[in-house]
Amino acid sequence: MIDYFNTNYPSVDLLRLRAQQRLPQFAFEYVDGGCNVEQGLHKNTDDIRKLELLPYYLRQYDHISMKTTLFGETYDAPFGISPVGLQGLIWPEAPEILAKAAFDHNIPFVLSTVTTSPIEKIAEITEGKAWFQLYHPVDDNITDDLLARCKRAGIKTLVLLSDVPTFAYRPKEIKNGLAMPPKMTAHNIYEIFKSPQWALTTLLKGKPQFATLKKYMSGNMNMHHLALFMDKTFNGRLSMEKVQRLRDKWDGNLVMKGLSTVEDSDKAVALGLDGIIISNHGGRQLDAGPSTISVAPEIIAKHKQNITIMMDSGIRNGPDIARTLSVGVDFTFLGRTFMYGVGALGHHGGYHTINMLKKELQQVMEQCCCETPADFPNHLLDNIWQAPSV
Ligand SMILES: Cc1cc2nc3c(=O)[nH]c(=O)nc-3n(C[C@H](O)[C@H](O)[C@H](O)COP(=O)(O)O)c2cc1C
Repeated sequence: MIDYFNTNYPSVDLLRLRAQQRLPQFAFEYVDGGCNVEQGLHKNTDDIRKLELLPYYLRQYDHISMKTTLFGETYDAPFGISPVGLQGLIWPEAPEILAKAAFDHNIPFVLSTVTTSPIEKIAEITEGKAWFQLYHPVDDNITDDLLARCKRAGIKTLVLLSDVPTFAYRPKEIKNGLAMPPKMTAHNIYEIFKSPQWALTTLLKGKPQFATLKKYMSGNMNMHHLALFMDKTFNGRLSMEKVQRLRDKWDGNLVMKGLSTVEDSDKAVALGLDGIIISNHGGRQLDAGPSTISVAPEIIAKHKQNITIMMDSGIRNGPDIARTLSVGVDFTFLGRTFMYGVGALGHHGGYHTINMLKKELQQVMEQCCCETPADFPNHLLDNIWQAPSV
């Protein structure tokens, strides 16, 4: 199973297409869409693909290794799985499927606060190696309880999300009445009937729930109460004080995700965080914002020596991972690529997508004569940005 690779779907575009065919429209658009007119969503990938890498064909190498060490842990590849909420809507048990594949391939899986598997189950599957993304609840008691649960489960890395001060404006989700469970409009019911495999698997496994948060919700919440709960529990800006409180309470690795400015990175460093993930939520929050790859060099130039710098948003395949590493980030994460994989191939989706990305990245490394991920900055063609020296 770990080597599973389906030759009918050797690219992310084919996985996306297959997922679109298999899923009801509301589920596919939830994962595929961005905010407003989706300019930021597309710009992320377009800008990454402006970068060019130089191949050196007469150089020699001993062997290629993708191994990358973060926070004292050595992973088998320089990419991991971004936290995604409501994953069970795309395919039942999607978090378990991805966590198991990530564990077997020794790459990090980040569990979202608002996804459909609980901390405890994912920690068990990954023997505590999963990271947990915290949505910084307004109520400190919930935060403290989540931290205690992570600790008990053996989780060592907490990822604090910074880029959701308010819920985003996403026209597709508004049109589709996306909620938990999805609103049963005539169109959504029609879409479910058109997706028999998805419908049957969802029926067999039961409707997805916010598994980690269930214990903080009262009994049978109707849609209105659920919306109020989410709004009351998570709405709110992050502040230096809130981060400081977490830093004081959490003695594991603390990473902030969702930064795209030097100013916020300065603050993360000043607060003693262990890492940052330069991210704009995959173009789901601020359509008018910059692409992550366009801001990364400036942040790296200032803080490469001070903090571990990772990046997501717009990275879709192996060459994108290589290009992103070439600006000097320490590690990359991908969100949608993995969700397309699971949407397309169900329980095989995790293994397939990891193997596809590894094969693609390996091929780029061989072409460039690049022995390790840290060598990529030496291959960046300096036609757009000056790669900071590493
Ligand atoms: C459908 C969807 C749901 C997401 N939910 C979360 C979430 O619950 N927590 C979080 O930190 N990020 C969330 N993200 C953002 C991802 O962690 C990640 O930043 C983004 O997907 C990276 O961009 P990419 O999809 O272009 O790879 C979500 C992204 C998508 C597409």
